[in-house]
Amino acid sequence: MSPVALGVDFGTSHTVAVWRRDDGPAVPLLFDGSPLLPSGVYADTVDGLRAGRAAANAARVDPARFEPNPKRRVDDGSLLLGEDEFAVVDVIAAVLTRVRAEAVRVAGAVDAVVLTHPAAWGPRRRLVLEDAAENAGLAGATLLPEPVAAARYFTTVLGRRISAGQAVVVFDLGGGTFDASVVTAGGGGFEVAAVDGLESLGGVDVDQALIELLARVHGEREGWSRLMSPESPRERAARRLFTEDVRMAKEALSTDSRAELPIPLLDVPAMLTREELEAVTGRLLEGAVATTRAVVRAAKLTPERIAGVFLVGGASRMPLVATMLHRALGVAPTVIEQPELVVAQGAAVSVPVAAPVVAPPPAPAPVRPPPVAPRKPKRRLDWRWRAAIALAILLAASILVTQLTKVN
Ligand SMILES: Nc1ncnc2c1ncn2[C@@H]1O[C@H](COP(=O)(O)OP(=O)(O)OP(=O)(O)O)[C@@H](O)[C@H]1O
Ligand SMILES: [Mg+2]
Repeated sequence: MSPVALGVDFGTSHTVAVWRRDDGPAVPLLFDGSPLLPSGVYADTVDGLRAGRAAANAARVDPARFEPNPKRRVDDGSLLLGEDEFAVVDVIAAVLTRVRAEAVRVAGAVDAVVLTHPAAWGPRRRLVLEDAAENAGLAGATLLPEPVAAARYFTTVLGRRISAGQAVVVFDLGGGTFDASVVTAGGGGFEVAAVDGLESLGGVDVDQALIELLARVHGEREGWSRLMSPESPRERAARRLFTEDVRMAKEALSTDSRAELPIPLLDVPAMLTREELEAVTGRLLEGAVATTRAVVRAAKLTPERIAGVFLVGGASRMPLVATMLHRALGVAPTVIEQPELVVAQGAAVSVPVAAPVVAPPPAPAPVRPPPVAPRKPKRRLDWRWRAAIALAILLAASILVTQLTKVN
C-alpha cells in the first residue's frame, strides 16, 4: 500500500487532521463523529492527560483540571491543572497523541506529517510544537505556516490559479487568533510576503462580547455574579454550560435572525439577535479589516494582482466578515462550506508522501574536513603573450648565436 500523509492543524478551539495516500483523496479524520477535535485537555487523576470530547465532558465536573485552549498557553512553559503542574509541551502532545492514534487506527500507519502554525510564530513557539509532535510519536513532522497551507488548498483543492506576480490574501479568523497574510507564488513554491494579526481576536472573544451584552440586560439579577465568578463545582459547571450555549447561539445567528438560550443559575431565558451580534462584532472586525488592508499595502498588492481573498477559520462564517472585507478590498471573498478544514486539507496535500515519516535515527554528526584554503584559479596566459615570449626567446637566442660567431 502507498504511504500515508497526515496534515494537522492544531487550533485554539479545534484540531483538524486530514490524511491521504499519494493516489487518493484527502480525508478528514473523525473524532467522535466530527472532523473537529476540541483542543481542550483534561488532567485525569487516573488516566493522565486526555484530549477531545471526553476531556470537555470531564471538565463539566471539575473545570479546574481542564485547559480549553492550550494553543493560547504556548509561551507559558508550564500550566496548572487542578493541583498538578504540567509542561505545555506535554499538554499539546496529549492532543497530537489523540490525532496520531486515530490516524493509525484508520489509515494503518503515518508516513509523513505536516503540522501547521500561525505565520507569525517565531522559532521558540515552533520548537514547542515540534517537541510536542515528537512526544506524540510524530517525530520528523514538517512545519508549515497556516496561510501557506490555505493557499495550497486554494490552488490544489479549489483549482484556482495564482499567476506569476499575483497573490492570495488569506483572512483567517479562528477560535483564538486572527491572522491576515499575503501569499505569493514563486519558483520555489508559496511564500508569505506579508503577515500581521491580532492575538486576542477570535471566536472566543466574540463569545465574551456577547456575554458582556447579556450582562447589560441580566447583570443585576440574583445569581449573575456567581455565574461570572463561580466558586462551587455546581457554579463552575453552570459557567461552562453557559459559555457553550452562548457559542452555539452565536453560531446559529450566522443563518438565523434570532437565537434563544437559557441562563443557568438565573433560570431565565435570554435572546440574542443578528443585529446585536453584528453591532458587537462590527467593532471587533474593524480591527481585523484594518489589519488586512495594512498587510495588502505592505505587500504592495494592487487589486488587479489579487488572485483571491480567501476566508479561513470557523469565525469567518459570520456573514458580516465577507461583507466588510468586500467593501474594504473591492474583491468578493471566496467563501467555502467548511472553513475550519482548509488549513489541514492544504497541509495534507502539501506533503510529499514519499518522504520518511518518522524521522530516521539521528545520523552521526558529519566529520568536517579541515578547512581548505580556497585555491586560486590557475591563470592561463593569453596566446598573444605566449607568442611574444616565444619571439623574445628566439630573438635572444639569435643575438647570442651572432655574438658567439663574432667572437670566434
Ligand atoms: N457559523 C458560525 N458563526 C460564527 N462563528 C462560528 C461559526 N462556526 C464556527 N464558529 C466559530 O469558529 C471558532 C472556531 O474556528 P476554528 O476551528 O477555525 O478555530 P481554531 O483553528 O481552533 O483557532 P485558531 O485558528 O485561532 O487557532 C469558534 O469560536 C466557533 O464558535
Ligand atoms: Mg485555525
